[in-house]
Amino acid sequence: MLSYRHSYHAGNYADVLKHSVLIHILTYLKKKEKPFCYVDTHAGAGMYSLRSEQALKTNEYLQGIGALWEQENLPSAIAEYRELIKSFNDKQELAFYPGSPLIAMHLMRQQDRLFLYELHNTEIKILEAAIKKDKRVTVLHKDGFQDCLRLMPPQQRRGLVLIDPSYEMKTDYQQVIDTLIQLHKRFATGTYALWYPVVERQRINELEQKIAASQLSNVQLFELGQVADSDQLGMNASGMIVVNPPWTLKAEMEQVLPYLAKQLGIEGQGSYRIKQLKAE
Ligand SMILES: C[S@@+](CC[C@H](N)C(=O)[O-])C[C@H]1O[C@@H](n2cnc3c(N)ncnc32)[C@H](O)[C@@H]1O
Repeated sequence: MLSYRHSYHAGNYADVLKHSVLIHILTYLKKKEKPFCYVDTHAGAGMYSLRSEQALKTNEYLQGIGALWEQENLPSAIAEYRELIKSFNDKQELAFYPGSPLIAMHLMRQQDRLFLYELHNTEIKILEAAIKKDKRVTVLHKDGFQDCLRLMPPQQRRGLVLIDPSYEMKTDYQQVIDTLIQLHKRFATGTYALWYPVVERQRINELEQKIAASQLSNVQLFELGQVADSDQLGMNASGMIVVNPPWTLKAEMEQVLPYLAKQLGIEGQGSYRIKQLKAE
């Protein structure tokens, strides 16, 4: 049974990195008139109130989007990210945070298509209500790991797949890599973005080794740490592994990550990593 609810974590430092990368990739895809396809294998509820019981219980957003809300002199990509989040909020007050499906919907054009998977019985209802009816968007109450394979290659022959599970099941660590390889076999020129949490560093070392040993090519990793690695329970850092990234992404992350590590790190422990996992 699924118990993870993203409402406890929406807008935290992991979302800041994940959604900045998402915005960069979708904005890059929009540079051409040709349509793109966006697949979100783990979509979540779509929209989150930062006044909800869950959000107020953890207050994680305060050390994420909350810590950027009134900052001046942001790196341009973070300014763009904040502008997009502001467009979901009335006036200047931070009260709502859009998840990846709503961010993608905000950026999509008439010709683009979205496929959103969510398996949780409650989250799917909230997602459907947040999306409303839109012919360009298909919401699926199905296992995103399995069902997304049938969409590849997409009709548009251009696109992004975001793989963003909660890792509440330990098998997710293996399933993300298996899915990534299967997707890539069917659609080798697509862009894939895989989110990972650093709870136990060894698991991420293994993930990186498996990618290095795979047939995937052109893979970059971007990681943001909030506290130093430790054996304590909880997430210390998180990252995005991107297959076939836009050529502009790395340079942008070189501006963004040092800033976020300083701004969102706790007690000076913020850190970042940028790594070419596989050559082009
Ligand atoms: C980390 S949250 C997604 C957050 C979202 N991508 C965002 O950035 O706003 C992960 C979601 O995946 C859902 N989920 C878990 N296993 C799934 C599966 N096999 N297929 C589809 N959704 C799943 C969970 O219910 C949860 O809502």
